[in-house]
Amino acid sequence: MGRLRTAVLISGRGSNLQALIDAARDPTYPAEIALVVSNVPGAFGLERARQASIATKIVDHKNFPDRESFERALDGLLREHKIEFVCLAGFMRLLTPAFVTPWLDRLINIHPSLLPAFKGLHTHERALAAGVRFTGCTVHFVRPATDDGPIILQAAVAIRPDDTPDSLAARVLEAEHQIFPAALALVAEGKTRIEKEIVRIEGHNPPGPILFNPALN
Ligand code: GAR
Repeated sequence: MGRLRTAVLISGRGSNLQALIDAARDPTYPAEIALVVSNVPGAFGLERARQASIATKIVDHKNFPDRESFERALDGLLREHKIEFVCLAGFMRLLTPAFVTPWLDRLINIHPSLLPAFKGLHTHERALAAGVRFTGCTVHFVRPATDDGPIILQAAVAIRPDDTPDSLAARVLEAEHQIFPAALALVAEGKTRIEKEIVRIEGHNPPGPILFNPALN
């Protein structure tokens, strides 16, 4: 079976894109990164894609009168490139049902919190302000509501007393770079099944020990 033709949509630095590119360098990885699309012309992620000889396209939302026409252009590009699956990797535009519905279950996103906690922006500031002991990241199938949809993988990151939003973001980002390629591989291998909006993973073992509040360690 061929590798899943995957597009990655970005808006910025593209470190998650890089994690996907690096994973897909292994010929046994079940997905190939066939196209990188940015809505921001100068996004550094475009440079990462070029370095890896991956086709890049810019669809600048500022050039479109409304969301519908922007999304139509995006969708057309994906189809033109025979894309089968889409990863949102720091893509900072909200997508409407007009785009999401045709790509349903073929569209995943990474978010820097343990969803459904801290949807939206400034997740690390908000986790610190809430005093939670753990935060983390989530890869999920995209649904029309923002940062919503069946969860594929999550990683928990313990919060340290001296954390700042930046220090926390850096540790969460490391976890993101692990779970995004892992989640894409699971889906591309056909190991995930969505049952009543819950993702079941074939061969999934229950997790190990309970994680304790770091203050108790
Ligand atoms: C990542 O932390 C990703 O989880 C977040 O943007 C960052 C992109 O970094 N995404 C969102 O907040 C989406 N709601 P990257 O460009 O280096 O991958």
